[in-house]
Amino acid sequence: MSSLAETSPLAVARTVQALRETVQGWRKAGERVGFVPTMGALHEGHLSLVRLAREQADRVVASVFVNPKQFAPTEDLDRYPRQEAEDARLLASAGCDLLFAPGPEAIYPPGFSTAITVAGVSDDLEGAFRPQMFGGVATVVAKLLIQAAPDVAVFGEKDYQQLLVIKRLVADLDLPVRIVPGPTVREDDGLALSSRNAYLTPEQRMIAGRLNLALADAARRARKGEPVAVIEKDTVAEIGEAGFDSVDYVAIRDAEDLAPFVGAVNGPARVLAAARIGATRLIDNLPI
Ligand code: PAJ
Repeated sequence: MSSLAETSPLAVARTVQALRETVQGWRKAGERVGFVPTMGALHEGHLSLVRLAREQADRVVASVFVNPKQFAPTEDLDRYPRQEAEDARLLASAGCDLLFAPGPEAIYPPGFSTAITVAGVSDDLEGAFRPQMFGGVATVVAKLLIQAAPDVAVFGEKDYQQLLVIKRLVADLDLPVRIVPGPTVREDDGLALSSRNAYLTPEQRMIAGRLNLALADAARRARKGEPVAVIEKDTVAEIGEAGFDSVDYVAIRDAEDLAPFVGAVNGPARVLAAARIGATRLIDNLPI
């Protein structure tokens, strides 16, 4: 007899061919397919996207692929957490039907030479501090969307700029998929769940929660019509005073295209920030 802790084993596809065969079978049966791309080390944020995909589709595929092309040589590719068995268990419990977990050679076989660049929305903020990242993200997401051919793909607002890059990519390449944003899942103190939170010491973890509080203050002030430049400067100081070692940026931008404001906010906006504690870099954002 199975205990409550056990979940049904999750089917795993290692190759593009195996993925396509399963998805095509579902399509032939008239089922709609949802897709959630991830880099694994799954937490409740990822699982919320799987549940959202489940609401929008009959079947859900999740991918776990730690994409080397979106990490700079100095970044944490080698120490990025990998826990496939646990990820598979979590995905099954959230209602996922198939895990696509390709090896690097299935995604980037020898001779792979294509790169996708989404100009404009990629350039600033994260793009300025991690110049390789959005090219790597756009290339792998384009491949994954072509491979899985889902009706709907869900991406988190936690990585707000990434979401805009992917919307642009899908529009520009006429990829026949609907991109659905998923709200950010947070800890009780407001810290956005992230696979990288695992790097934080208990002391750093206390500090990390203050990032979201600083952004909430900034959003409140922006809604009152205070000048954007003043809020951004004060928020950088507030994050530093909270104990972060450095702040890469705090930016209040247009929610659709990340264009800056002159003076006060005058339309749908977002406050976005990136800051470091020790070797760990955290990002977060809130609507205004
Ligand atoms: P990863 O960081 O694993 O995130 C996978 C998805 O989960 C992304 O859409 C991300 O925005 C979302 N996510 C992360 N933390 C979340 C949270 N606290 N609440 C809600 N959603 C959250 O983002 C990537 O992987 C990669 O760049 C990828 C798109 C898979 C391409 O390699």
